[in-house]
Amino acid sequence: MIDKFLNKIVQGDCLELFKQMPDNSVDMTFADPPFNLKKGYNSYKDNLKLQEYLIWCEQWITEMVRVTKPTGSIFVHNIPKWLTFYSGFLNKQADFKHWITWDAPTAPMGKTLQPAHYGILFYVKDCKQLKFYEVRYPHKRARKSNMLAKDYGGKKGLLHPFGPLVSDVWTDIHRVKHNKFRDEHPCQLPIHLLERLILMITDENDIVLDPFSGTGTTAIASKRLGRQYIGFELDEKYVKITENKLLQEQTNSKIGDCWVSFYLDDIVTLRNNDWNYIKDFYYIPNTVEEIDQQQIILKTKINIQTPIKSFTNFNYITNNFESIMSSTLFEKN
Ligand SMILES: C[S@@+](CC[C@H](N)C(=O)[O-])C[C@H]1O[C@@H](n2cnc3c(N)ncnc32)[C@H](O)[C@@H]1O
Repeated sequence: MIDKFLNKIVQGDCLELFKQMPDNSVDMTFADPPFNLKKGYNSYKDNLKLQEYLIWCEQWITEMVRVTKPTGSIFVHNIPKWLTFYSGFLNKQADFKHWITWDAPTAPMGKTLQPAHYGILFYVKDCKQLKFYEVRYPHKRARKSNMLAKDYGGKKGLLHPFGPLVSDVWTDIHRVKHNKFRDEHPCQLPIHLLERLILMITDENDIVLDPFSGTGTTAIASKRLGRQYIGFELDEKYVKITENKLLQEQTNSKIGDCWVSFYLDDIVTLRNNDWNYIKDFYYIPNTVEEIDQQQIILKTKINIQTPIKSFTNFNYITNNFESIMSSTLFEKN
């Protein structure tokens, strides 16, 4: 029954489409629903009455839990106000794992503190059967000096060369602001936000479902990472935009054999378990002092010898090979 939806963006009302999905059939569900803030979508009117909105939300949240496998995870992205209600719904039917704070400025709503984060609720169908992989992100560095931004409480000697394990506060992923990178959609999420979640809890070929697909961020992240996707979206225009984008996407967000998330030609999320393999693709300074002052850098020479099909940034590296190789990689500032 699920095959007809696999690797497709299906146009329609998600509650209707969910009815055609079997129980326990997908590995990850992610929802970024309308926030009921009168956003200017192409056709959807984002202004339900409070009770109407909440009743509707409980319905699709219940469907998300139903279709997720016992080993799978459920993510819901929204402003904190709505997540407090969502938690009430989810606590009755799934196991709480985390409230991920995604540090990103949002619009003020009357007499409030300046809202500066979105939340991503992370629930699991069954915490005893959960599939989960630890992931790492690059060390944060001071903009001018490029030195590590944190002092790690005098424990720099224990630093991981790539960067820390990802916590439940994400400050390194920014909203898609520039028009050059945006589709005609009022609230498109960054692809590498979804890639981080996907790397954390799914394996190659696992199925990722997004009932509010928008212009397809979840589907694109899934395709890049060799996962299967299902997207539901009410608006035909957004479905078309997504389908066109998907045609141009490749399944190759990899370093050698390992799936990783790239942003602007750097790896921004990798699995902890993959580091022993991936480290050979980097120039890594010998001492902690050097890591403090220098970012580790992908070894372009090794990448060029890597088969093209398993290497995302081949074109970038070949075009920039001379300048990259002639840069003084480990000279101190
Ligand atoms: C917040 S946006 C999702 C944006 C998406 N995460 C992205 O990055 O492009 C919510 C989307 O839900 C769609 N939508 C609203 N009601 C829906 C419904 N009942 N079923 C399916 N999609 C719906 C809207 O058209 C809108 O594109």
